[in-house]
Amino acid sequence: MKCLFLLCLCLVPIVVFSSTFTFQNPIDLSSDATPRTPVLDLADKELDSRLSYRIIPTLRGGGGGEVYLGYSPNSAAPCPDGVFRYPSDIAPSGTPVRFIPLSMQFGSGIYEDQLLNIQFNISTVKLCESYTIWKVGDYDESLGAMLLETGGTIGELDSSWFKIVKSSLAYNLLYCPSTPFIYPLFSDDNLCAKVGVVMQNGKRRLALVNDHPLDVYFSKSS
Ligand SMILES: *[C@@H]1O[C@H](CO)[C@@H](O)[C@H](O)[C@H]1NC(C)=O
Repeated sequence: MKCLFLLCLCLVPIVVFSSTFTFQNPIDLSSDATPRTPVLDLADKELDSRLSYRIIPTLRGGGGGEVYLGYSPNSAAPCPDGVFRYPSDIAPSGTPVRFIPLSMQFGSGIYEDQLLNIQFNISTVKLCESYTIWKVGDYDESLGAMLLETGGTIGELDSSWFKIVKSSLAYNLLYCPSTPFIYPLFSDDNLCAKVGVVMQNGKRRLALVNDHPLDVYFSKSS
């Protein structure tokens, strides 16, 4: 009896995993008739993982201000490791990012809903190289949010998976913590959290939010 129970316990993950896997199987996806929707930049060109882009909020004035890599207050990191937005659209240009798909199966294109790492494309000293890769930090109790920071490795568990989804105005960024091996390549929005902005020491810090995700455009950086 006990043996049977144990056997059932062992089978559960296999059944769950295999059904999930069949559903999301990349081989099924490629024979899927539904074409993936490419993400477009401000010039209506398809995003490319070999290029970099500035992330520009759709709002203008004080609601605008591009996304940049800056020093985090209270961080022990030896390098800038905070993801911020400038306070207005008259501030300097943001820091370019590149989007690196979990799988290159779909070529160098970047598609809506595709799981991605995000990396600031800046020249930096060796010590700071890993601090170009976006990740979601621990819950910050004083701000009541998980803040976006940097420090990780492309394709590894110490970085975070994001995706770009269409919003009514432009695009939103979502953070999708699902294990890539269970939800390969594309993941369900319901398992993701929205990226928005919280105030931290007078600066606009990107963070996971329940409401008001940041609506953004992407502009190819020259
Ligand atoms: C990163 O930036 C450098 C310098 O601006 C540029 O030459 C290179 O093409 C960029 N890489 C990507 C992937 O955009």
